[in-house]
Amino acid sequence: MIDEKRIRQALQSVLHPKLKKSLVDIGMIRDIRIKGEVVTLTLALKSDRSPLEKVFTGEIETIVGALPGVSSVQVEVIALSEKEYNRLFPKAPLKGIEKVKHFLAVASGKGGVGKTTTAVNVALALAKQGLNVGLLDADVYGPSVPLMLGLSNTLDQKDNMIVPKEKYGLRIMSLGMTAGKDEAFIWRGPLVSKMIHQLLGQVKWGELDYLVLDLPPGTGDPSITIAQAISNCSILMVTTPQEVALADVRRSIALFNKIGQPIIGLVENMSYFVCGHSAKPIDIFGSGGGEKLSQESDIPLFGAIPIDLELRQGGDTGVPLMVSSPNSSTGLVFQAIALKITDRTKSFESISGWQTRVRDDCKV
Ligand SMILES: Nc1ncnc2c1ncn2[C@@H]1O[C@H](COP(=O)(O)OP(=O)(O)OP(=O)(O)O)[C@@H](O)[C@H]1O
Ligand SMILES: [Mg+2]
Repeated sequence: MIDEKRIRQALQSVLHPKLKKSLVDIGMIRDIRIKGEVVTLTLALKSDRSPLEKVFTGEIETIVGALPGVSSVQVEVIALSEKEYNRLFPKAPLKGIEKVKHFLAVASGKGGVGKTTTAVNVALALAKQGLNVGLLDADVYGPSVPLMLGLSNTLDQKDNMIVPKEKYGLRIMSLGMTAGKDEAFIWRGPLVSKMIHQLLGQVKWGELDYLVLDLPPGTGDPSITIAQAISNCSILMVTTPQEVALADVRRSIALFNKIGQPIIGLVENMSYFVCGHSAKPIDIFGSGGGEKLSQESDIPLFGAIPIDLELRQGGDTGVPLMVSSPNSSTGLVFQAIALKITDRTKSFESISGWQTRVRDDCKV
């Protein structure tokens, strides 16, 4: 009578042409079942429409069908899970970012909560620690980093790659540098995906400790594309204290959790306003939202940024607060947030395989 061991042995000769390994050994042939003289097995492929399906099933049927005690062979084809696929076919890093150690995306489900303000000042606070930091404006709909950092629209090229702008010790790239000041951006799914990959892959980022990404609001294509393109991209989630913002941020947290992207911390922006007359903090947008969200989602609150006139002015004049007043009370909040980020992300380095892998095949 035929047994599973004999079938496995016989199938050792069916090799994957690219991996040059036996389909049995790499787990693409699995669940071998025997009922009398009928053998059924599962073949897991990249997709259930893989061009290799016919070749493999033909080989399997011939080999197993020729074994004594087998009268018929049934091959059930399924698709590999994403995790299995990534393990079997790891992608080489995109060229532009192969020397980037950590990725930190600043996100929020809501618009106008201060993502860009946070991304810019956090990037500067990280650079103040003596780290090499890049800033990628990944807001494909409304890039505002050039305005916040007072950058012109010109771009330099070297070796067929774009050279990021250097300012205030940061390496910066924004889609805003590639278009006119008031030009509208209308990107649809596949184009967004392509554009993000270009901003990551065709820019000469060089050696960086952190590449901070300023994401567009919402849970749309760019957020998903970036999160899927860079596994181990840490997320810093920005919220404001009021309930309406929290609802959107919760949705955004759920999305990143679903695709397995680690949200390392929360930042509550526009937390309070220090009134010049009384010097007492006033909670203009309510209070406790960040703390509440932190408790319910089990994500640490890294800091609460007050409503600060200088912070707003810095955004409009191209001289961010972390450049004009790094040691002001708000500046110190950004420095504390940056320390929590380095503390948290450093712990990733001891995990084997932590290093960021960037996939160049992901689709929206
Ligand atoms: N804590 C703050 N105090 C004062 N002004 C702030 C503060 N945070 C942000 N702002 C101002 O609020 C406006 C919106 O901030 P910002 O552009 O950073 O938000 P955003 O979340 O990136 O917006 P979008 O969703 O449009 O990308 C800007 O004018 C900015 O200067
Ligand atoms: Mg923004």
